[in-house]
Formats: sequence, C-alpha cells, structure tokens
Amino acid sequence: MAAKTSLILNELKKLEKSVFSMLDDEWMLVTAGNMQSFNTMTASWGGFGVLWNKPVAFVFVRPTRHTYNFMESAEVFTLTFFEEKYRKILQFCGSRSGRDTDKIKATGLIPAASPSGGIIFDQAYLALDCRKVYTSDIDPAHFLDSSIEKNYPKKDYHRMYIGEITHFQMITQK
Ligand SMILES: Cc1cc2nc3c(=O)[nH]c(=O)nc-3n(C[C@H](O)[C@H](O)[C@H](O)COP(=O)(O)O)c2cc1C
Repeated sequence: MAAKTSLILNELKKLEKSVFSMLDDEWMLVTAGNMQSFNTMTASWGGFGVLWNKPVAFVFVRPTRHTYNFMESAEVFTLTFFEEKYRKILQFCGSRSGRDTDKIKATGLIPAASPSGGIIFDQAYLALDCRKVYTSDIDPAHFLDSSIEKNYPKKDYHRMYIGEITHFQMITQK
C-alpha cells in the first residue's frame, strides 16, 4: 500500500463515530462538480471500507437525480457530514432538485474548494474527497431478495460509485 494511502487509512481508523449512525441518522451530502458548476444532494445509502488496498467510500445515486450528471462528468466527488443543527439543510437538499432550485442560496451552505478540486462546505464537521475508481449499475436481475424491488417503482436503479478516499478533513466542531 502506498505511503499516502496508508496514512489516510490510519487517520480514518481514528474516527470514533459509528459509520452506521453517520449514514443512517446524520445523513451526508454527496457533491460533485467544481466552483463554477456543482450540485449537491443528501444521501444515506452507502458505506465505507477497504477495497483493492484503498480506503474507499461507496455511494448510490439514482440516474433521475440532477447530481447524477455531475457525478458522471466529475473525477472526484465529496462526502460531507454535519451536526444535528444542520438537519433542515440536509432535509432541503434531499427534497429539492438542483435542476430548479439554487440549494446553496436557499440554505446558506458555504462552498469551498476541497484539496482535490471538489466542493466541500464550511459548515461540515467532516469532509472526504473521493476519487472515482469504479461504477456499476444496480441490476435487478441480481436481486436475491425480491423485496428490494419495492425501492424502485420507477425502475430508476441506482448507480454505485466507489471512490478512493484521497483526503480526509475533520473540521473543528461548529
Ligand atoms: C435522508 C435522505 C437520504 C437520501 N439518500 C439518497 C441516496 O442514497 N441516493 C439517492 O439517489 N437519493 C437519495 N436521496 C434523495 C435525494 O437527496 C433527492 O432526490 C434530491 O432532491 C436530489 O437532488 P438533485 O436532483 O439536485 O440531485 C435521499 C434523500 C433523503 C432526504
């Protein structure tokens, strides 16, 4: 494993929070694009782990999301995490589309360039830069539990993005 990769992995191991709670209770913003043009949306499905000797994050984005187009054209996406007091902002970003709403203006989120050229937010307590390394579409032919299909009444099966976590910023609690 490259020295930088193992350094980041060591930093990530110090995270004391449950990643299950971070995803299922706190949610996160998935953001792709650059300062000129980007989009963000709330997500709670995904995970973290180690794959191909890399620390990775994986997220699932439906092709119907505006964010999907940005995820497709970007080489990097970011994941940002927020304290409870920002819940309304995450609710907003998870119920409105960047197609017809300026989520940044409406929420007061303050965008900043991340170390790898993505977009993170000043209000976040944790920001991860992820370099896209793999994508795959959820294929209903592979569902081994038929109840999964009920998540897709519109057949808009998620695309999974696996990103290598290249930067990790634990920002002072706000
Ligand atoms: C708590 C929560 C979790 C969500 N998780 C996901 C997710 O994992 N994947 C996804 O595609 N959409 C998810 N969504 C829905 C998107 O955030 C929502 O459709 C959003 O309006 C898309 O914005 P966009 O069109 O600007 O991309 C979630 C919404 C909420 C409120």
